[in-house]
Amino acid sequence: MSNSQLLDWTTPEALPVHVSFIMDGNGRWAKRRGEERTAGHRAGSETVQRVVRECRKLGIKYITLYTFSRENWARPKKEVSFLFELLVSFLKKELPSLMEQDIRLNIFGEMSDLPLTARTALQHAMKKTEKNTSMTLNLALNYSGREEIIRAVKQLVADSVSADEITEKTFADRLYSSGIPDPDLMIRTSGEIRLSNFMLFQHAYSEMYFTETLWPDFSIEEFHDVLKAYAARERRFGKTGDQLNND
Ligand code: IPE
Ligand code: IPE
Ligand code: MG
Repeated sequence: MSNSQLLDWTTPEALPVHVSFIMDGNGRWAKRRGEERTAGHRAGSETVQRVVRECRKLGIKYITLYTFSRENWARPKKEVSFLFELLVSFLKKELPSLMEQDIRLNIFGEMSDLPLTARTALQHAMKKTEKNTSMTLNLALNYSGREEIIRAVKQLVADSVSADEITEKTFADRLYSSGIPDPDLMIRTSGEIRLSNFMLFQHAYSEMYFTETLWPDFSIEEFHDVLKAYAARERRFGKTGDQLNND
């Protein structure tokens, strides 16, 4: 039995420091109930609220939610507008609770391309929560992993960083996630087994968990099961299992 299996999954050593989520399946959830896709997004936003609260309660320091990809602009215009309206109302509703829970809001993605109302609401919420330290909530919005990498390369050039000075550290410092540890655990709902251009550099050694559950149905019970499974996994980082267990 590995050390991690002996640990209680709720202890700080057993919990992931950073969890990322690909919140997928809202549309299918709605379709199965004979409702509009928008109903699925609304229900999905309630899952967000529950999951954020639970992460904070457990003492997880960082979570990143894939909220809107660069590729999602290709969706019907009506759905895109609805998603940003939902974001604005979510921020308005949740801001007092973010303050109460001491959660800082942060954005991964190019904000200048977002609708003005969304940008204004996000900037307000980020400013208001900037001194909160118990947990950081990153929303990946208008996000593309490849764009993020290209952007970091451009910044290295703009900063006149020489080839010798380009390291994993100087590169990572120019990603949206600068200063934030890589996700230990990535959870994707809805049965799709792919990354969909999400944090390509940062997920290099993350533990992955894929579930058939659609995002609006993702429960705290299932989240606990995932965290238990995570605590029992052996993260070898290239070493042998024997090396880890004899440490
Ligand atoms: C995830 O659910 C939410 C966003 C991508 C914004 P989907 O809307 O992708 O739901 P499915 O995949 O169509 O079921
Ligand atoms: C990924 O979900 C993006 C978000 C969850 C915001 P998609 O539903 O857009 O992903 P693909 O296109 O099916 O891979
Ligand atoms: Mg989807």
